[in-house]
Amino acid sequence: MERILVIGANGQIGSELVDALAAQHGADNVIAADISPRSLYAAKVYEVIDVLSADRLAAVAEQYQITQVYQLAALLSATGEQAPLKAWTLNMDGLLNILELARIRGEAGKPLKVFWPSSIAAFGPNTPAQNTPQFTIMDPTTIYGISKLAGERLCEYYFQKYGVDVRSIRYPGIISYKSPPGGGTTDYAIAIFHAALRGESYSCFLEADTTLPMIYMPDAIRATISLMDAPADKLSIRSSYNVAGLSFNPRQLAQVIEQNLPDFDIHYAPDSRQAIAASWPQSLDDEIARRDWGWQAQIDIQHLVKDMLKNVKLSQTPESALTKAA
Ligand code: SER
Repeated sequence: MERILVIGANGQIGSELVDALAAQHGADNVIAADISPRSLYAAKVYEVIDVLSADRLAAVAEQYQITQVYQLAALLSATGEQAPLKAWTLNMDGLLNILELARIRGEAGKPLKVFWPSSIAAFGPNTPAQNTPQFTIMDPTTIYGISKLAGERLCEYYFQKYGVDVRSIRYPGIISYKSPPGGGTTDYAIAIFHAALRGESYSCFLEADTTLPMIYMPDAIRATISLMDAPADKLSIRSSYNVAGLSFNPRQLAQVIEQNLPDFDIHYAPDSRQAIAASWPQSLDDEIARRDWGWQAQIDIQHLVKDMLKNVKLSQTPESALTKAA
């Protein structure tokens, strides 16, 4: 029986992953954890954890006899630029604490499988932008991307040196409606739906033709759980897997929204996030994920737009959280 700890359970991925894991393993076996005093999404089991506290992590792992950890607590690309040292500390020390926990528990005969998210932000301006290969130039320019690249190397190091069963995905921009966006460069593709449903013209902080790799949340959750469920001997990548969903730019997304809401209007006011987006790939080659664990994206832009327009709840997300230049 698996006992699963999800750290960052109140965040964008965590809020949906907890439910998916509860459906698979039983709600009693999924321990949602976050730094805030309560679960924002009514998790059945909830613990307050600061991922920077190694002692607290060890105590919770022992209390619940945890067998899997998803370490999702992080500062994203745009907010990271406002507080680079804080982003570095949270993103790196948080991961190191989990890898050390897994090493120590593994050596005590209590193996811990780890999931940690990397990102398209680990690539940079000299990375080939089209169909970006798994192995290529990686020269990230944001503190977030630098922490992701370093984190990937740490994951592989702990696997090679200590046998820690750590697994990771380089997520594209994730689009979802359950939680508010959390300071990412790809978040225009969420904010745009909120403006569209308010009947407002959307002021896009990226230029119209800025193509980025994206993925809709149900595909992202399926990828994550498939990777964690794959047999260890099938996995050839212990840094982080390229995983593709779909690619589009703001103009293309706006056109599909307009097909559904004919009065929708967008205008462009690029800010500091444009330079970040311009340094990232436009599409990813995920052949190794397909081969190793059968990855295949399912959701196209038409489905994504219809589902977002149906499900975005305007009341959940203050306008300031969506439009603020981070
Ligand atoms: N969605 C993230 C961001 O924009 C990328 O991992 O920061």
